[in-house]
Amino acid sequence: MHHSVSIFGISFLVAYLGCGEAHFLKMTNAVCKSYNQSWVVVHYCRLKAYSRTKTSLNINITLSEPANNILVHAKTMKRANGYKPFLFDFTIDACEFMRRRNHPVAKIIWNMIKNVSTINHTCPYEGVQMLSDFHHVEVPIPLPSGDYLLLIDWLFDGKPQFATNVYFTFVEDLLPTSSKHRRSSLSFRIDV
Ligand SMILES: *[C@@H]1O[C@H](CO)[C@@H](O)[C@H](O)[C@H]1NC(C)=O
Ligand SMILES: *[C@@H]1O[C@H](CO)[C@@H](O)[C@H](O)[C@H]1NC(C)=O
Ligand SMILES: *[C@@H]1O[C@H](CO)[C@@H](O)[C@H](O)[C@H]1NC(C)=O
Ligand SMILES: *[C@@H]1O[C@H](CO)[C@@H](O)[C@H](O)[C@H]1NC(C)=O
Repeated sequence: MHHSVSIFGISFLVAYLGCGEAHFLKMTNAVCKSYNQSWVVVHYCRLKAYSRTKTSLNINITLSEPANNILVHAKTMKRANGYKPFLFDFTIDACEFMRRRNHPVAKIIWNMIKNVSTINHTCPYEGVQMLSDFHHVEVPIPLPSGDYLLLIDWLFDGKPQFATNVYFTFVEDLLPTSSKHRRSSLSFRIDV
């Protein structure tokens, strides 16, 4: 039992490492909404298509007053008869995060967006906030293929002000010839 589980685990890991460009994550929809027009105005929040497997995310919003006290509530969902909570659900203090980079999952997201956003500074945030042509997505953990949703609610002074929700599809492994070979040869060696 233990033996077969570890073989499965190892071949899964190799499939993941070996698949290279065979897996992809494609953002399929972006929905941003303001809960309080007098603080947050969403100018646009949209995807641009690059190819069959790639889109980029573009967001432009204005904060009409400074935000000094920001909580970010992030939650990932996976589709299975509707979207169900999956893997992550956490709330962080964004102002503290920008000072200390103290949350591992937020740090993964931060590393992906830091070059293409206007948010690389500490609180307060005011005026136009942008995410421009964000498409460099990396998934640092193995995910099963499927449809996902990343829900982010932004709270100022403890109250929800706006949401940025991104739908994406993850395809784990298209099994091109090279990765199929790599995976079966390793499993074979372990079985012997
Ligand atoms: C909406 O935004 C205004 C600032 O423009 C703020 O004074 C008010 O408290 C906010 N309302 C809520 C419910 O957060
Ligand atoms: C973002 O929206 C603001 C307000 O509509 C506009 O002035 C600004 O030019 C926009 N920036 C970009 C890069 O689209
Ligand atoms: C961000 O920019 C730096 C320096 O230009 C570069 O080394 C890094 O790979 C970029 N990161 C991403 C996620 O694009
Ligand atoms: C973010 O800002 C810091 C401090 O101004 C700077 O050292 C760093 O290079 C910036 N990072 C990016 C990705 O722009």
